[in-house]
Amino acid sequence: MTPALDIKGLSSGYGEALVLRDLSLMIQPGEIFALLGKNGMGKSTLLKTIMGFLPVRQGHIQLAGNRTANLPPYRMARRSVAYIPQEKALFQDLTVLENLKLVMPDTAAIKAELERTARWFPVLQKRVHQRAGTLSGGEQKMLLMVRAMLPKQKLMLIDEISEGLQPSMVDAVSDVLRTERASRDVAILLVEQNVPFVSSVADRFSVLKQGEIVASGSMADADASAVIDRQLSV
Ligand SMILES: Nc1ncnc2c1ncn2[C@@H]1O[C@H](COP(=O)(O)OP(=O)(O)O)[C@@H](O)[C@H]1O
Ligand SMILES: [Mg+2]
Repeated sequence: MTPALDIKGLSSGYGEALVLRDLSLMIQPGEIFALLGKNGMGKSTLLKTIMGFLPVRQGHIQLAGNRTANLPPYRMARRSVAYIPQEKALFQDLTVLENLKLVMPDTAAIKAELERTARWFPVLQKRVHQRAGTLSGGEQKMLLMVRAMLPKQKLMLIDEISEGLQPSMVDAVSDVLRTERASRDVAILLVEQNVPFVSSVADRFSVLKQGEIVASGSMADADASAVIDRQLSV
């Protein structure tokens, strides 16, 4: 099987400073992969590098078997990569519907997607004409999820979606991700610090420490949560 994402020997950073050193990881289609690590370890830097916001210094990134070679973010999006950044990334003065139209102009398709996802995120359907900036933080994250799922991408990069979400919403996100993975074989790279959440949803994990992977395993391993907890506590 051709991996959805294959990263080999990746180094990346800001200016002269390297944040990621010789990082390798592979995700298969239909797999949910969790990358865990404390603040400042380089998790967001990795997603920004994959998405093309930061240049690859060394190593390479392949999407479905094709080298990406420093493509800009909009071209990564055209290659079926969805990115849910950690920071607020909506047009605050545009409505829910207008924010979604920026990625998919077809209003009927948007309404259908809001209908499909209403069992998890009913509030968005009720607030299509409300400005995004007036939604709560959690509701804005739901909108980011729907925006990422709308174009039916092959790879989703998700940066700390569970941060600050109430437990029922974290459960809803778990459910959405499992459904997406099962129904259309999307590969998901989940950057997280929330161990119970990733334990409920991920297939495999790695722990990132100061830009390097220090532990990896299958979430089905009996000691997976213990390994992660230990790595996150030191
Ligand atoms: N725009 C930036 N310019 C310079 N250094 C940055 C920038 N963004 C992040 N860093 C540094 O890169 C390191 C990794 O940050 P980041 O990838 O955001 O970590 P994480 O997402 O794991 O919390 C940190 O030391 C951080 O200070
Ligand atoms: Mg981060």
